[in-house]
Amino acid sequence: MIRFLRKMYLLLVFGLLSLSVNECYSARILCIFQMPAVSHQATFQPIARALSLRGHEVITVTPRPINDPTLTNLTEIDTSHTYDIINGHGFEFFMSKEKAVQTKIPKIFAMYYDLAHAIFQNEQFKKIYTNPDEKFDLIIVQIYVSPIMLALSAKFNAPIIGVSSMGGWIGTHYAIGNPSLPSMYSEMFLPYNGELSFYERFKSTLYFIWSRLYVNFVAMPKCDKVARKYLGNDLPYLADIERNISALFLNINPILYTPRPMVPTVVPLVFMHIQPPKPLPQDIKNEIESAKNGLVYFSLGSNVKSMNIPQRVRNLLMDVFRGLPYKVLWKFEKEELPGKPSNVVIKKWLPQQDILAHPNVKVFISQGGLQSSEEAIDRVVPMVVIPFIADQELNAKNLHEFGVGRHIDYLNTTKQELIDSIIDVAENPKYRENMKKLRTLLRDEPMTGLERAIWWSEYIIRNKGTRHLRSPTVDIVWYKYFLLDVISAFIVLITFIVLVYIKLFNFVKNTLKKKNKIKTK
Ligand SMILES: *[C@@H]1O[C@H](CO)[C@@H](O)[C@H](O)[C@H]1NC(C)=O
Ligand SMILES: *[C@@H]1O[C@H](CO)[C@@H](O)[C@H](O)[C@H]1NC(C)=O
Ligand SMILES: *[C@@H]1O[C@H](CO)[C@@H](O)[C@H](O)[C@H]1NC(C)=O
Repeated sequence: MIRFLRKMYLLLVFGLLSLSVNECYSARILCIFQMPAVSHQATFQPIARALSLRGHEVITVTPRPINDPTLTNLTEIDTSHTYDIINGHGFEFFMSKEKAVQTKIPKIFAMYYDLAHAIFQNEQFKKIYTNPDEKFDLIIVQIYVSPIMLALSAKFNAPIIGVSSMGGWIGTHYAIGNPSLPSMYSEMFLPYNGELSFYERFKSTLYFIWSRLYVNFVAMPKCDKVARKYLGNDLPYLADIERNISALFLNINPILYTPRPMVPTVVPLVFMHIQPPKPLPQDIKNEIESAKNGLVYFSLGSNVKSMNIPQRVRNLLMDVFRGLPYKVLWKFEKEELPGKPSNVVIKKWLPQQDILAHPNVKVFISQGGLQSSEEAIDRVVPMVVIPFIADQELNAKNLHEFGVGRHIDYLNTTKQELIDSIIDVAENPKYRENMKKLRTLLRDEPMTGLERAIWWSEYIIRNKGTRHLRSPTVDIVWYKYFLLDVISAFIVLITFIVLVYIKLFNFVKNTLKKKNKIKTK
């Protein structure tokens, strides 16, 4: 009897415990994943899906809906018409390595203003943000460079999480209070890595100052204006809303992104979009297995696209592929590729994760986007990386340094360098071994990236934000942060002391001189 009672008591206690853990049961969550880029959305989709499967009511505004009718708690508002906006803003420009980063950032912001207008003008979404009775327990928005959508946090008086499919750019780190010293930590859009040379530190410092000024005086007022146009004029200033962000989910792994100090509300995600391998479609399987000397898989990802790269580079690549002993499977976005070598097979769409899982794939030639790199790491396929935009050059350098691939500069590379690199990576076993080591390191974690994202989302719902974790670096004024007031005080003090000493010295010297004169007289 006593035993039974004890059992019941334990059951009750455990029941209550699990109830308190699930206190945020069935919260209402709004997600805005604005960027029309397949690789970005691949990071966000699992978060929306997992939250809905935990019984939360999730509404997602996305250009790439999951469209899975079994996800009954997930409502998706389709903004796929925004793909035209990104195309209209000239992807070739972003891709060019010759263009300075200061000319690219304003273009990315300009694209974001247009994206925001298009999303706010969506009729379904309009019904949500114009409804005075609408309530949310949590808002999750993509944060790439522009903070416009963070204004929804003030509109609905709900805690907000910023999520990025890559690292954070300098303005985002600044808003959440991460130290961003230009002497050590490379900016996402700058390709510097490890110990910076004097020239690199000089450039990175200039960029640091420029980006602060640009955000403060140009971009933030514009973003604020866009948000006010749709959400009403009684919002607080957008920069203040941004500093209220509850957490930042960054898709950073400590290999591709140099480790750096971060406040506790930055949650690192890894391998978000990786799925267990699925069986390949028969035609693709045949192509891979009929490659006698092995297969080279070539894709520049969903944003760069082989279509967009300079003609010169495309011709060079065809020349290189013709000289290889391997079959090449190329993700190419058109039906026809004039002058295609006979050992090259083109397909418009390919199941990349599943292809990389096939043991006959020897090398992955990639642009070095984060999602592609993670797929290569997870499937242990060494890489030849030809970076074009954003964080790709930084990733390429890190992959090269880790010995899991080689980094090619498309501006100066030659046919011979490319052929040598591809054959080296295919035949030298060290690349694959390093890849295996890297995978083991990255997989050795107490919980997966997705589990971390869900835990933090529910933590923020339970505790109504993370005000208690706010770093003082968020609120400190810049001249105090850099100790400019203290340094000025030192300079004044030292100058004063030196002046007093000089005066004193002169005084003593003059008195001695006078005395001497009197004596000699
Ligand atoms: C939807 O949420 C409810 C609770 O709000 C839960 O019982 C149900 O299992 C969820 N459905 C799915 C498919 O996740
Ligand atoms: C930031 O959050 C605090 C507490 O949650 C709130 O009082 C304040 O008004 C918010 N500020 C802005 C600008 O949203
Ligand atoms: C291309 O330039 C990079 C430096 O930007 C250099 O490291 C590399 O060796 C060069 N490659 C060739 C083939 O000249």
